[in-house]
Amino acid sequence: MTDVKSDDKWISGQAHQDIVTIGDPALKRPVQPIIDFGSSAELFEHMVARLRQLNGAGLAAPQIGHSVAVIVVEVRRTDVFPDRPTSPLILMANPKIIEQSEETEQGWEGCFSVPGMMGLVSRYSRIRVRFQTPDGNDNEESYSGYLARVIQHEIDHLAAVEFIDHMETMESLTTVHNYLQFHR
Ligand code: NI
Repeated sequence: MTDVKSDDKWISGQAHQDIVTIGDPALKRPVQPIIDFGSSAELFEHMVARLRQLNGAGLAAPQIGHSVAVIVVEVRRTDVFPDRPTSPLILMANPKIIEQSEETEQGWEGCFSVPGMMGLVSRYSRIRVRFQTPDGNDNEESYSGYLARVIQHEIDHLAAVEFIDHMETMESLTTVHNYLQFHR
C-alpha cells in the first residue's frame, strides 16, 4: 500500500463539508443498531468511499450524520502517520468490546470531527470485539496495537465519545501543524 497524503483541510483545522464536527448535536445522538442488513450495504459503501477520500484510518456513521452502529476501518500510512502499521479494510455493524487487556498504551490521535487537532490518548493494548459483518453474520476478532486503538476510537463515536474525552490531561493537545513540527 502506498503512502497517501492526509486531507489538507483536516490538517488546517477545516472540516470536510460532509463530516459532522464536535459541537454538532448529531455527534451526540444515540445510535440505533443495524437490524436490516440489506439496506445498510449502501451506507457501508458510502463510508468506505469517504474514508478513502479523506485518507483516514477509520470512520463511524455518526460522523457523516447517520445515527446507526456502523464503523469502517482501514489503516494506511499517511504523511502525518508515516510509520503506523497498515490494516485491511474492516467493516463492522453493532460492534461491542467484550474483552480488553489490563495493559494500556499512549499514542497520538486525531479525528475528522475534531479537525486540525491531535492529542495523546491512552487505549487498551488489546481488545476482543463482537460485531456483525455487512452480511449480518456474527463475528468475533481480537486486535492489538495501533489497529486496536483505531477500533476503540471508532466504537467510541457510537457512544458520543470523542478522543479528547480520553485525554488524561490537555497538556499534549496540539494543532496538526505543531504536531508535525514539534512532536512527531
Ligand atoms: Ni474520530
